[in-house]
Amino acid sequence: MVATTALALAVLGAVAVSALPYGGQRVQVPFLGINPGKDSEGGKQQLAPSRDADMAALLDKYAPVFKLASSEIFYPSSVKYMLDRYAFVEHKNGTTYRPPRHLFTPSGLAHLPQNGTRQLLSLDEEHNAQPHVPSKDSAFLYGPAGQEGGMKLGEDGRGRVEEEVYGFWVDQGRGVVDLWYWTFYPYNLGKEVGALGWLGNHVVDWEHLRIRTVNGTAESADFDTHSGGKFSAGTYRWQEIERFNDRPVAYIAMGSHGMWPVPGKHVYAQLLNLWQLYDITDDNGAIWDTHGRVVPIQFWNGPDKAEKMMDGPPGPNRRLGRPPECILGKTADESSRYAFYLSHNISVQAEPLNVTSVVVEQICARPSVSSVEWSDNLTEPELETWAAPASSIPFTGSSATPYNVTMGGCGGSRSAAKAYRVALYDGAGERVSTSDLRVLCIYEAGEEGSVSRSAVDIHDLDEWRWLLKKDEDDE
Ligand SMILES: *[C@@H]1O[C@H](CO)[C@@H](O)[C@H](O)[C@H]1NC(C)=O
Ligand SMILES: *[C@@H]1O[C@H](CO)[C@@H](O)[C@H](O)[C@H]1NC(C)=O
Ligand SMILES: *[C@@H]1O[C@H](CO)[C@@H](O)[C@H](O)[C@H]1NC(C)=O
Ligand SMILES: *[C@@H]1O[C@H](CO)[C@@H](O)[C@H](O)[C@H]1NC(C)=O
Ligand SMILES: *[C@@H]1O[C@H](CO)[C@@H](O)[C@H](O)[C@H]1NC(C)=O
Ligand SMILES: *[C@@H]1O[C@H](CO)[C@@H](O)[C@H](O)[C@H]1NC(C)=O
Ligand SMILES: *[C@@H]1O[C@H](CO)[C@@H](O)[C@H](O)[C@H]1NC(C)=O
Repeated sequence: MVATTALALAVLGAVAVSALPYGGQRVQVPFLGINPGKDSEGGKQQLAPSRDADMAALLDKYAPVFKLASSEIFYPSSVKYMLDRYAFVEHKNGTTYRPPRHLFTPSGLAHLPQNGTRQLLSLDEEHNAQPHVPSKDSAFLYGPAGQEGGMKLGEDGRGRVEEEVYGFWVDQGRGVVDLWYWTFYPYNLGKEVGALGWLGNHVVDWEHLRIRTVNGTAESADFDTHSGGKFSAGTYRWQEIERFNDRPVAYIAMGSHGMWPVPGKHVYAQLLNLWQLYDITDDNGAIWDTHGRVVPIQFWNGPDKAEKMMDGPPGPNRRLGRPPECILGKTADESSRYAFYLSHNISVQAEPLNVTSVVVEQICARPSVSSVEWSDNLTEPELETWAAPASSIPFTGSSATPYNVTMGGCGGSRSAAKAYRVALYDGAGERVSTSDLRVLCIYEAGEEGSVSRSAVDIHDLDEWRWLLKKDEDDE
């Protein structure tokens, strides 16, 4: 629901929509252009065409099947469908102008002033439905399948949606390619929140599903519903998600379009501890099989060039480089083993800071109330957490070979390793900088469902990248 972005169909440009959710603001689409000239000049890192074809094939191989809710009325569309309806452009400073219609095309966008950077595509005010749902005059906001007679029916009597989805691939190195499938909707229906009425209605909505492949085979799926975090389903092993012809099935929440691995009622936000907002999914609505409908788009140019993409709200943007919500690992018997990589960028930043050693901090947790059963639920309130004694190894400055650390398990009954982070120390033994946490999801070989274990075996393929800021708690 938060993610609201539009993008161009060619590698020539990209738009991001940031319709303010509520309160009579103009519908706005910040356009954050990709520098259009560089591609043709070959000035930017280019993947070989065969590599592009391989990635397009991989995107199609795992093209998801989306199941829309039976009560859905706001259906998806292509980006082009909305480009045809935008009326004017607004600069970030508030000034507006009406460019000629031919600029509201995928390639035309790049010819807006400043290549479209820091601009918003806008609808005329009469189509700005805030805070009410769109009227008949704005029926296009219901999407092609939401028009009268616009929905095809399958033999099973359920609707069929045939819109395109936008597929991005992110080569993370080490054989890891993340496939991001972005869906686009002209309108997001918010939620009715008690006396506050409808919150979160907005024009244009982006949502996504991410599949991680390793050496061309799917390994996990991330249901980072809406903006991800604790109110999303998170990371699942491939063998544990529903599939159709080895392609993922995702259930789409009515109105707000977040993706969930199963039908049902899902908490996705909590307001002021007063209201819980739910996403409702079911298996009775229209089916949107994206096989053959993935439009491959490659904006990602490597971790340090990702900012070339977009700087907008969380539509298809630089967050594409993130590791999964949860790092998958195996159970271990007595000691925990961590294998991880530090990016080249970290090595460059570490040198002037005289970094000499790398320390892994294993974050352990246990229920502090004996009646509380262990679950994989890190938001469980009755949870005690601590950092296990850390292990130190020499800093090598290499991003190609893993840092391998063996350390004790979490110790104590009912305790489990739940996360880890990495800290860098200098020759004087002072801590220089500490990474964020990465949450762990641990599996027993051959068994379903994640478990909580005191000792874990982690091979983290996502190299660590962070800006080395001096730790604040250092003397
Ligand atoms: C727009 O793109 C052109 C062609 O690549 C480039 O020369 C120019 O600097 C860009 N302008 C801005 C404001 O980014
Ligand atoms: C607003 O920004 C645009 C694009 O940078 C610029 O052309 C215009 O002069 C600005 N207008 C004002 C009033 O600052
Ligand atoms: C992927 O393939 C490469 C090259 O064959 C191999 O070194 C690597 O171990 C493979 N990765 C996994 C996780 O199997
Ligand atoms: C480091 O860990 C990786 C991944 O578990 C493993 O393949 C490799 O053999 C280990 N290297 C050493 C020197 O133990
Ligand atoms: C790194 O070491 C050099 C030489 O010992 C010293 O001059 C410099 O101040 C150190 N830098 C930092 C950030 O501690
Ligand atoms: C996780 O724990 C919180 C707090 O107890 C609870 O509200 C939530 O429903 C739990 N989530 C799951 C998936 O069990
Ligand atoms: C390393 O990454 C940081 C954070 O993204 C960035 O500010 C810095 O410019 C990068 N340094 C190099 C040498 O690429």
